[in-house]
This record gives sequence, structure tokens and C-alpha cells, in this order.
Amino acid sequence: SRIWAVIPAAGTGSRFGGKLAKQYLPLGGKTVIEHSINTLLARGDISAIAVALHKDDEVFSSLACANDPRVLRTTGGSERANSVAQALIALEEADDADWVLVHDAARPCVSQHDIQQLLELGCAHAVGAILAAPMVDTVKRSDKRGDIAETLDRNELWRALTPQLFRFGELRDALSYCRERQFAVTDEASAIEYCGRRPLLVEGSCRNIKITYPDDLAIAEVFLSGEER
Ligand code: CTP
Ligand code: MG
Repeated sequence: SRIWAVIPAAGTGSRFGGKLAKQYLPLGGKTVIEHSINTLLARGDISAIAVALHKDDEVFSSLACANDPRVLRTTGGSERANSVAQALIALEEADDADWVLVHDAARPCVSQHDIQQLLELGCAHAVGAILAAPMVDTVKRSDKRGDIAETLDRNELWRALTPQLFRFGELRDALSYCRERQFAVTDEASAIEYCGRRPLLVEGSCRNIKITYPDDLAIAEVFLSGEER
């Protein structure tokens, strides 16, 4: 079976703010999204990458990677899950049994090492796998008043990162299943979980941050400049 990739990049970066969406901001001599795409393009075993763009996107076509024959473009939706679903449709040659890696445009610091681990362990698993990082803070659940209702056991809590790896047909069907039922899907794994399946957690580097707020860009710059370590 082959491996495909999807990059959701149709968001507007409302928490980051500013005119230009965060995936197009400069970072270490390139834009944020070019780091994400180039890291996947560097792997010869990825057949094609479908990038979901905002309907009014005017930037992507000017990037060097836009001309790569393995990079396909499509228009995303108002929710991340819809953007991913649209990108799957754009991968017309994929078979249901193929694998698909979904990776946020806004995670430019993912390492080749972590992608390799995810593919090795995920492709050997019945359902697939996601990169995840152990919780470093103690996590509280609040009640409606804002008082602490419960302290959760940190040892069984993980932060979900991307890439996330699933069978192409299973992910497509899980996203449409959840869409019909209006289930909240915040990552691909949650859609698969709603279908009663249990993906594997693969521990990845906590350097694989999502650019969400302006400070994250400065942190990413530091992580990328120390990449040789
Ligand atoms: N994304 C997308 N389609 C959407 C929303 C988000 O393709 N309708 C993409 C973003 O471009 C980003 C990734 O999903 O690469 C992770 O989403 P997030 O960090 O939440 O980005 P934004 O939605 O753009 O930011 P915000 O939530 O602050 O508005
Ligand atoms: Mg968002």
C-alpha cells in the first residue's frame, strides 16, 4: 500500500492575529508552511501531498513547493475536519487500504525522526497512530463555576500532535460519519475514535509545537536553528 499526505492550511489564524495567515509568516528563511511541506517532500515514500487552502488564498501559488509535481491543491472548509475531508477527495488515485498522514501546516518543527517512528509503528498497527507528547503540567477539570471538579492522572494524559496516520478509506469514512452526526472532531484520531477504533500513541518531541500565538513563532525559530543537534 502507498502513503499519501494531507496538509490542512485553510485556517485564518484568528488566535495569532494579523493580516497574513500564520502559515505564511517568515520563519528561518522560508514560510511556516514550507517547512511543513518540505519535511514531507523530503521523504521519497510519500506519493503526493494534498494541501487544503482557504478559498481566498493568494499566497500559496507563489511558494516554490507549489510547483512540485507531488503537491496538489484544493479548497478547504470552515472547520479543520472539512478541510481534511476535501484534501482526501483531491487524492483521487488513493486506494482505501493506502495510508494517509495528516499534518498541520502550522507545525513547522516536526522532525524526520518522529515521522519515521510514526510510520514504522503506525503501519504495523491495526488502526494507525498519532504523534503525542506526555503532559508536563498537572491537569484539572473545572465545573461550571470554575472551581476544580477533579485532578486528572497525568500519567495517562497526552497532548495530541500531528502527523496522524490512518488508512485512507477509514479516515474518509470516519470524517463523514462524524460530520453527519455533528460530532466535535478536533483531530483525525477523534473521528476514528468515534467509530470505536483505538489508534496508537507514538511519543514525539515536544519541539513539534503548533504555531498558535505570536510567541510560538519565536520559539520555533530557536528550535529550527538548533536542528543539527
Ligand atoms: N485549518 C484548516 N481549515 C480550517 C481550520 C484550520 O485547514 N477551517 C488548518 C490550519 O490552517 C492549521 C491547522 O488546521 O494548519 C491547525 O489549526 P489551527 O492551529 O487552529 O489554525 P487556525 O484555525 O488557522 O487558527 P485559529 O484557530 O487561531 O483561528
Ligand atoms: Mg483553528
